[in-house]
Amino acid sequence: APAPLVDSFGRVIRYLRVSVTDRCDLRCRYCMAEHMTFLPRDQIASLEELAIIAERFVARGVRKIRLSGGEPLVRRDVMMLVERLGRHVGGALDELTMTTNGTRLRRYAADLVAAGVRRVNVSLDTLDPERFRYVTRHGDVAEVLDGIAAARDAGLAVKINMVALKGLNEDDIAPMLRWCVAQGHDLTLIETMPLGAIDEDRTDRFLPLTVVKDRLDQAFTLTRDAAVTGGPARYWQVDGGRTRLGLISPLTANFCDGCNRVRLTTEGRLYTCLGHDDQRDLRAALRDGGVGALDAAIEDALLTKPRRHDFRIARDAAPAVARHMSVTGG
Ligand code: GTP
Ligand code: 5AD
Ligand code: SF4
Repeated sequence: APAPLVDSFGRVIRYLRVSVTDRCDLRCRYCMAEHMTFLPRDQIASLEELAIIAERFVARGVRKIRLSGGEPLVRRDVMMLVERLGRHVGGALDELTMTTNGTRLRRYAADLVAAGVRRVNVSLDTLDPERFRYVTRHGDVAEVLDGIAAARDAGLAVKINMVALKGLNEDDIAPMLRWCVAQGHDLTLIETMPLGAIDEDRTDRFLPLTVVKDRLDQAFTLTRDAAVTGGPARYWQVDGGRTRLGLISPLTANFCDGCNRVRLTTEGRLYTCLGHDDQRDLRAALRDGGVGALDAAIEDALLTKPRRHDFRIARDAAPAVARHMSVTGG
């Protein structure tokens, strides 16, 4: 078999994130501006091209693929890609997963399971209907909760992703954890990261998870859990039960030394770090030189993978990278 993918710091790449669209039906305030310019359709790779590229990564030792976006379920025919990649689950792939905002989960839950997906991460920043509407600018929390229920009924494990936002959802965090315990979901909290221009200053919303963890320790018994999903979270077991609390703390506890990930965008570009602009056009390589050129471009890109991101939250600072999270899929 071809050699696994290793970067210049010796980190082995086992995890491919694919942003299948930069579009979304919501406009979360920390993620997007109200008026977004999305990629023109002629720059978007076909699902066939994304599948060919993703399968090259599988051939090179990637064991986990996550489809994200934007909102993956707004892309027409996205199930074609899910079904194709799903054929590798249990063989070359340990896991094919999706990160979704949940608005279309009811429609897709059973199809995802049939395609080999066992687990989804659903972004949900508050359970409060009015606050949800405010944070997402367009969303109806009932629709997402219904999607989550459908996912669970279909047999999918659900992990909730919640971005911790000062003065916005901080008092929703403990209720969310309580709800997750009651529902049997895991919960992952995320520090807001400076990607792309939004309509407010992220400094005003930055809430260090060190502070959140201290508060949660007052209300819950959190026991460090050695669980690893291959993602960046550190985990705690909650009140001795099966719910796990994950913390993703890029600003207060850097995890780049353990990075095992690269990102493929909807244009077919490879970004080797969420926090840097270096990228390589894999789709062009494939078109111009076939699979041989694709392999060479992947090798090449990997050598430019930076040691770590340089995210910091500082008033009036430009975002660390100009592109939005939705372009590279988180
Ligand atoms: P699991 O497989 O459940 O561990 O998921 P995951 O955490 O890998 O994926 P998810 O899509 O749920 O991402 C959660 C958050 O982690 C998002 O905000 C991502 O942007 C962030 N994230 C994932 N990988 C990285 C990374 O390499 N660097 C940084 N800074 N953030 C990351
Ligand atoms: N910082 C941190 N997390 C973000 N997400 C989107 N934008 C940001 C940001 N700037 C989250 C979403 C989703 C995950 C993929 O990334 O809420 O759960
Ligand atoms: Fe859409 Fe996710 Fe961004 Fe919200 S955070 S606007 S759901 S891509």
